[in-house]
Amino acid sequence: MGARVSARFPTEEEINKLNKCIDNVRATIDSDKRDGKRRNCCVVTYGCQQNEADSEQIAGMAVEMGYNLTDFTDQADLIIVNTCAVREHAEKKVFSITGGYKHLKDANPELVIGICGCMVSQEKNAEKFKKSYPYVDFTFGTESLWKFPEILDVVINKKKRSFVLNSGDEVICERTPSSRKSTFTSWLSIMYGCNNFCTYCIVPYVRGRERSRKPEDILREAKQLVSDGYKEITLLGQNVNSYGKEYGVSFASLIKQIAELDGDFIIRFMSSHPKDMSDELIQVIADCPKIERHIHLPFQSGSTRVLKLMNRHYTREDYLALIHRIREKNPDISLSADVMVGFPGETEEDFEDTLNLIREVRFDMMFSFIYSPREGTPAAKEVQMSEKEKTDRYLRLLKVQEPIAEEMAQRFVGRTEKVLVEGRSKNNNEMFTGRTSGLKIVLFEGNDEMTGRFADIEITEAHAFALYGKVVRVY
Ligand code: SAM
Ligand code: SF4
Ligand code: F3S
Repeated sequence: MGARVSARFPTEEEINKLNKCIDNVRATIDSDKRDGKRRNCCVVTYGCQQNEADSEQIAGMAVEMGYNLTDFTDQADLIIVNTCAVREHAEKKVFSITGGYKHLKDANPELVIGICGCMVSQEKNAEKFKKSYPYVDFTFGTESLWKFPEILDVVINKKKRSFVLNSGDEVICERTPSSRKSTFTSWLSIMYGCNNFCTYCIVPYVRGRERSRKPEDILREAKQLVSDGYKEITLLGQNVNSYGKEYGVSFASLIKQIAELDGDFIIRFMSSHPKDMSDELIQVIADCPKIERHIHLPFQSGSTRVLKLMNRHYTREDYLALIHRIREKNPDISLSADVMVGFPGETEEDFEDTLNLIREVRFDMMFSFIYSPREGTPAAKEVQMSEKEKTDRYLRLLKVQEPIAEEMAQRFVGRTEKVLVEGRSKNNNEMFTGRTSGLKIVLFEGNDEMTGRFADIEITEAHAFALYGKVVRVY
């Protein structure tokens, strides 16, 4: 499948139709206020940051159509579950929680339930919801997200169920508003889809071909975020550093332009692919103080043989040389990565190569996964390793990585780190949390007025998964 070089933008006619559907749903909802109250919409999100960003757009459209937002499914008149298909476990979880919604529909037959996202971009899953979950009113795939008002109009006003797969024409719709969860951290999707077809991965099949938003649209949104008071902007894409081929604008030049905007804010980005990590980007990260000192650079395997089977387009040596180039320009940068164990055909020697790469690079953080066969991908057709063997390797890998993360964290003790205060810790309500420039979680004593502001924290203790410290100043 060749690389597509341009996205399709909705026509004026399509936008007019969309606006009409928004008005139609809104009119119904406005004319039917229950006990004078607006209807509530609850968006439940699984999966990656891209899904979180999509959910904020779904919530934004729901608000446009007259809904209030709620975090509680039992208070909702409309439930939308945004799903993930990356591993089998993620899919099972969605089927199980959707099963639990039956009693909500029994108690409230007016309740509308929809499933969207990566899982239902696949026909077999959309069919399963249609046939086996009669209380599910609609599904729509990732590429049909912008048509959510049209779908809801059919369900609410025509009283029909609606099951919409991906359109396959890779639309970028710029009129979709976002209702963001946070008032100080923000996701900014700069591109959609993926062209890489790593042989284990379902994403290119459920998210479509890679396509980038126009630089001027991204810059406009970034400016708006800064003027709305957002302090952190995270640029998102499945292969974020291959941005902009359609426009001849590199990711490095885009992020530099965002970093040059006036205002007190920080920039993060994910996920980068090692094959697209240019020297220009490494230099821009070194030069721009607004870009945080962290790169997430998945390597997946330390064995060149397995990397080839995975279709990753780099060798173990390429990856190590890249890490060297990054650290040469940015000596103190924090590095994190995704790695997978149990890929079909991974030998003990291949696995040892992975462990040795981890020992050599010394990552600050790591996200480790047990390979999960995904129907329709090439690797799923190969002979699979036993679950026991995969789990054993996974546990061995954690045993190698955890002490490294603990040791790497010690360099922060005694330093003062700038963090954006995120609020009270979910695990310990007495403590507040934030993240360092390197994305490490820091816990400290604070107060609610600090939330959403920057603070300097003197680090007093460091562990593999969190740092502890004292507030020096808040600004
Ligand atoms: N596009 C990003 C990249 O290439 O790094 C992220 C892709 S995916 C959403 C996040 C991680 O899930 C991948 O980096 C990979 O480690 C893991 N993953 C993808 N497919 C998987 C599978 N079939 N089984 C287990 N883990 C998987
Ligand atoms: Fe999946 Fe590979 Fe694309 Fe990442 S780069 S989304 S792992 S196909
Ligand atoms: Fe999952 Fe889709 Fe993200 S498969 S990881 S939600 S792109």
